[in-house]
Amino acid sequence: MDLLTPPPDLYGRPRADRFLRGLTAIQDRYVQALGGPLLRRSPRRPLSRPTPPLRLVVAARRELAADVIELSLTGPSGGQLPPWQPGAHLRLVLPSGRERHYSLSGDPADRRSYRIAVRKLPEGGGGSVEIHDTLHPGARLTARSPRNGFAFCAEPTVLLLAGGIGVTPLLPMAREAQRHGLDWRLVHVGRSADTLPYADELRALDPHRVVLRTDDEHGGVPTGAELLAHAPRGAAVYCCGPAPMLAAVQRALDESPACALHFERFGAAPITDGKPFAVRLGTDGPILEVPADRSALDVLREARPDLPYSCHQGFCGTCEVRLRSGTPDHRDRRLTAEQRAAGALLPCVSRAAEGETLVLDV
Ligand code: FES
Repeated sequence: MDLLTPPPDLYGRPRADRFLRGLTAIQDRYVQALGGPLLRRSPRRPLSRPTPPLRLVVAARRELAADVIELSLTGPSGGQLPPWQPGAHLRLVLPSGRERHYSLSGDPADRRSYRIAVRKLPEGGGGSVEIHDTLHPGARLTARSPRNGFAFCAEPTVLLLAGGIGVTPLLPMAREAQRHGLDWRLVHVGRSADTLPYADELRALDPHRVVLRTDDEHGGVPTGAELLAHAPRGAAVYCCGPAPMLAAVQRALDESPACALHFERFGAAPITDGKPFAVRLGTDGPILEVPADRSALDVLREARPDLPYSCHQGFCGTCEVRLRSGTPDHRDRRLTAEQRAAGALLPCVSRAAEGETLVLDV
């Protein structure tokens, strides 16, 4: 058994932390110091039983940046909401039935409201457009209690790297770091200043610890080395942004002064070691070819655009379909052995061997 390689996390990502065990010890001490029932639970451990849906109301809405709005969500009677920690996200069920995950950007100390920020993506799957177009103060929706797959371990020295709207989980981390007197920096990158949400709120924490870096002023997107040059020696890096930014930071990590990387990705994880296979819609439906570089979900949605999805990363379960026959290569981190044996499959990440045909009930 390889005892030195950390296990994959909730999202099925390999943990890049080279000193994971040391960090875990730091986290344990931090958690003990803060106390509280939620903090004593490992944020990456799934809850053992389902919690009832939360009913929420849009209490306020404001424009944060170009094509970005912020929603403040409260309970219908204004009571206390379930607690959360920096890095947590909320799984919202929109009026259309779409489910989407949004990082919480507010202050965990505020137990009466949740804040989320949403960038409108006209070419996306429709969730952000629905939120922008239909969710105004007074609108009602449901959600699952906050979950955390991107926990903040409060290491003594921290670099937070945010790409655009990826600042949302990092803002509460910066607030937490400031509150606990940690040595922290935050670099927020984007196309131009008007696309960067929460710039004022970040500067208000400590203007000397925040760098806003825009492509229009610097002649293009930053390299991973440029971003990691902001890391003090031994810093733990938390990165949230688009896939190319994460890939650049991962590539540059070994040559940087940083010692650990925690990250959260937007959208689908890259397909590794994908082989072409096929999916069939029912026993006598059409056969669709899944190329090596595309997910079965993408291909299925061309034939069935109403097929629901949310995370694209195999952890939310929204895209679940039934497998009638064929041998799948399950790549999710959600389904139990029993669920898989009963025919559940998550086509956003799961695949099959080359030449295999999976017959699905969709
Ligand atoms: S979309 Fe979340 S598990 Fe497939």
